Amino acid sequence: MLSTICCFTVILFFAAIASNVSAAFYARKIFDVRRYGARGDGKTDNAIAFTKAWKEACEWKGNPRVYVYVPFGTFYLGGVTFAGPCKSRISFIIKGTLLAPKEANVIKQDTWIIFRYVDNLAVSGGGILDGQGSYSWRHNDCRRNPKCRPLPMNIGFQFVRFSRISRIKSLNSKMGHFNFFAVSHLNITQVRIRAPGNSPNTDGIKIGLSNHIKIHNVDIGTGDDCIAILSGTTDLDISGVNCGPGHGISVGSLGKYTNEKSVRGLTVRDSIFNGTSNGVRIKTWASSTSRNLVSNFLYTNLQMINVGNPINIDQHYCPISPCSDKSFSQIQIRDVKFHNIWGTSTNKVAVKLQCSKIAPCKNVELVDVILVHRGYDGPATALCENVGGQTRGKIFPPSCL
Ligand SMILES: *[C@@H]1O[C@H](CO)[C@@H](O)[C@H](O)[C@H]1NC(C)=O
Ligand SMILES: *[C@@H]1O[C@H](CO)[C@@H](O)[C@H](O)[C@H]1NC(C)=O
Repeated sequence: MLSTICCFTVILFFAAIASNVSAAFYARKIFDVRRYGARGDGKTDNAIAFTKAWKEACEWKGNPRVYVYVPFGTFYLGGVTFAGPCKSRISFIIKGTLLAPKEANVIKQDTWIIFRYVDNLAVSGGGILDGQGSYSWRHNDCRRNPKCRPLPMNIGFQFVRFSRISRIKSLNSKMGHFNFFAVSHLNITQVRIRAPGNSPNTDGIKIGLSNHIKIHNVDIGTGDDCIAILSGTTDLDISGVNCGPGHGISVGSLGKYTNEKSVRGLTVRDSIFNGTSNGVRIKTWASSTSRNLVSNFLYTNLQMINVGNPINIDQHYCPISPCSDKSFSQIQIRDVKFHNIWGTSTNKVAVKLQCSKIAPCKNVELVDVILVHRGYDGPATALCENVGGQTRGKIFPPSCL
């Protein structure tokens, strides 16, 4: 009798495990946008259908994830916001192409596709975000007109945590491609970004007020910074980037606004810059209002192929003249390491360390930096202003530290 009870219990126990396993494997809850009326014909506006699918997925309590699914096809879409918080972890799978309106003013928000207040989100699927930017680039006058209406960016993540983005391609954004604001603990991998080298303000990945972000294995060719790192970003790890064309990986510009925060803990490693106007750059406005810190940076294992300014600290940034030669940046740059950086510079000045007169750069370290320049104007040179630090290993052009 005892043994019967025992074995019956054991059988129940195994049955329970088996049913849990099958629930995990077979009860994947999938919200296919087609069930909400979406059509991949390249014409129908699918914004409402997508929003409905998202809302139901967000309200669904499922384990371990629920899926929003965009199949193959071309899904035209006006501006959409996918807002949380959600009851489950959501995977947003894009197989096909999302097509933006040609006219920028059809999108009534600053970014075409927005994810906001979501935790444990995964966006992937191998699909394409086509911003159709070529129709609006000629209207972009932000260089000349400070009151210009910014064009919408392709995709934005705001207040998103513990999430990942992989296998997504962004094409021809009207302004920037990916924008991250107030995001933490996020991984970005296998993302491909493409816009022409002369398209205006098409930053690849823009990050502000965010922390614990990892970017690896991304391929970026665009008309502005491949990656732009803005105020309040900390603990950012970037590796395996293929950048070019573009303006390189930039920190800043910083110092324009009073409410800015420091940028700390940046690593850029194992990457290639090919035909970019800059390699790694830190820029702060010549006349800055804030006194923040830029510190604990490591740039290592970087190859430069025909790069304009491979290493560039510019604390005299002033794109809109006239600029007073009596105003100096108050942003303090310190503990910045450049290790194992090699390749070719199209400008004679391959290493530019131009720091502020009133807040000189401290503890800048160059180890094994070899950058050559091939031109009638002679070999590569280095330029230092108001900078303290040290060098080790092989250094060319000769150090000015
Ligand atoms: C990001 O990647 C790291 C290691 O590469 C991993 O430990 C971490 O859990 C990942 N985070 C997310 C949110 O996927
Ligand atoms: C650099 O870019 C040029 C021109 O696009 C290309 O031909 C070349 O293969 C690239 N080099 C590397 C190492 O990626």
